[in-house]
Amino acid sequence: MRTSFPSISLYLYLFMALYPFAITEAQTYSKNGMVVSDNALASEVGVSILKNGGNAVDASIATAFALAVTHPAAGNIGGGGFIVYLDSSGRATTIDFREKAPLAAQSDMFQDKNGKLNADADHKGLKSVGVPGTVAGLYMAHQKYGKLPWAALVQPAIELAKNGFSFPWGLYHDAQWLNANEGLSDFMKAYFLNTKGLPLQPGEIWKQPGLGTTLELIRDLGKDGFYKGVVAQEIARYMKENGGIITEADLERYEAVERQPVKGTYKDYTIYGMPPPSSGGITLIAMMNLMELADLKSIEFNSTAYVHLVTEVMRRGFADRAAYLGDPDFNQDMPLAKLLSKDYAKLRFDQINPKMASVSDSTLLGQPYEGSHTTHLSVIDKDGNAVSLTYTLEESYGVAMGSSKLGFIFNNEMGDFNPVAGVTTSTGQIGTKANLIAPEKRMLSSMTPTIVSKGGKPYLVIGSPGGRTIINTVFQTVLNVLGYDMPIDRAIEAMKIHHQWLPDTLFYEKDLLSPDTRDALESMGHKVQEVGRLGLLMGITYDAENKVFIGASDSGSPEGKAVGY
Ligand code: GLY
Repeated sequence: MRTSFPSISLYLYLFMALYPFAITEAQTYSKNGMVVSDNALASEVGVSILKNGGNAVDASIATAFALAVTHPAAGNIGGGGFIVYLDSSGRATTIDFREKAPLAAQSDMFQDKNGKLNADADHKGLKSVGVPGTVAGLYMAHQKYGKLPWAALVQPAIELAKNGFSFPWGLYHDAQWLNANEGLSDFMKAYFLNTKGLPLQPGEIWKQPGLGTTLELIRDLGKDGFYKGVVAQEIARYMKENGGIITEADLERYEAVERQPVKGTYKDYTIYGMPPPSSGGITLIAMMNLMELADLKSIEFNSTAYVHLVTEVMRRGFADRAAYLGDPDFNQDMPLAKLLSKDYAKLRFDQINPKMASVSDSTLLGQPYEGSHTTHLSVIDKDGNAVSLTYTLEESYGVAMGSSKLGFIFNNEMGDFNPVAGVTTSTGQIGTKANLIAPEKRMLSSMTPTIVSKGGKPYLVIGSPGGRTIINTVFQTVLNVLGYDMPIDRAIEAMKIHHQWLPDTLFYEKDLLSPDTRDALESMGHKVQEVGRLGLLMGITYDAENKVFIGASDSGSPEGKAVGY
């Protein structure tokens, strides 16, 4: 349960004065390594790799492949994502395996004949599929930083797919939800059926032979098992016959990219984030720079002053995100150094009126719709190498289409581009240049895999799904740990809010804001709206002094688990 912890700071200061680290039931502790993901089976796979001598990169790759089998809403080989990696010597890097627009993509492909957003095309059908990047990204991570053989990392996922696993209630729920959708593809109608063609029931063994065979090709041929040969041919055939535009040439040309992380500081912590085409790292660090200027000792967690300040910080962070960010290979002029600078933070901080909400007018810009389903995993090995990996199909189950021969689901990530140049609306459609559609361009993402270090050692590994809300839920969790000294489980469970410039609305998690605080915020000019849960955070903190890894998976994740050894 998320809680509002009205007097958490006092409680924690007392608690932590007595104990070196806070022991709670919701946290997992270990001495030799830790994997936290949205699915217990996948976390177990990651830990088995650590036990067999693999490093954090190996474990993250194996966990990601396992999630493609056990958590198909977002775990994938048909989508894309990002890795932030901090090794035990303090060297940080990132791998960008974001999907790309196909060669045949056009800037107006999601517009109607009047040049307006075509709601029938946006996020729908195979034209909304970006060229998948996951296999290339995991393969590059292994080639550069892995230790165990590649085949050993893919094999556990093959076994889960071919031998099957007990169908969990979470997937049973998803099957009901998908079946309620009109116009479900034949592939998806058959996806959750048993071998007799009947709907799978909780506890039945679910096997995915088609996906198992695709994974075997990836195991045996590496990246080429996906981007060339029979898998690539079948993807291209399926696309052509069903209205898609991805070709074998698109697949063959796809490359993951190793990029320098974005780096910032908060007091004596160093923050490593994902650079563009993610907007997550820049925006999170920029917002932490503003929070560093606030005296948090005088701002009680969850008070009116807290919610107001954090909202104003988010409003500014998201306005800059919208104004400037996109694929770096297509936007050489992004002012990244300025956005990350402490001077710019001071300028932005001084604009905040502590008594009144700012107005999100059209001089600054808002965000487009982004799907809210994605998944994150955090890993640390015994040597202190840390991986923060977030990947996605965009919406839950992506475009909900796929070839039954291949057994995996395609993303609908093309919906993360700005669909109509110049059209930015108060409801959140955005038309800035940096993120317009172009062939082979990567669409802007909000995924925010993050690693914080202290004294040269990893201190916090964190990330979340949630579309646009990802940046804010990860930001608040980092702030809770670094600024409010919360242990990882409390930092994850504490109330989250979300503001993204446009629409000019402050969203807060249901039941977690007191009526008095809500009234006070409204009287300051905030438009407030209750929502369900924000984020599903998967985090690890490392207590270097006691050499203890402490992990927690968000209680909102039905199958999530922190597993250590
Ligand atoms: N599709 C969600 C994101 O990339 O932020």
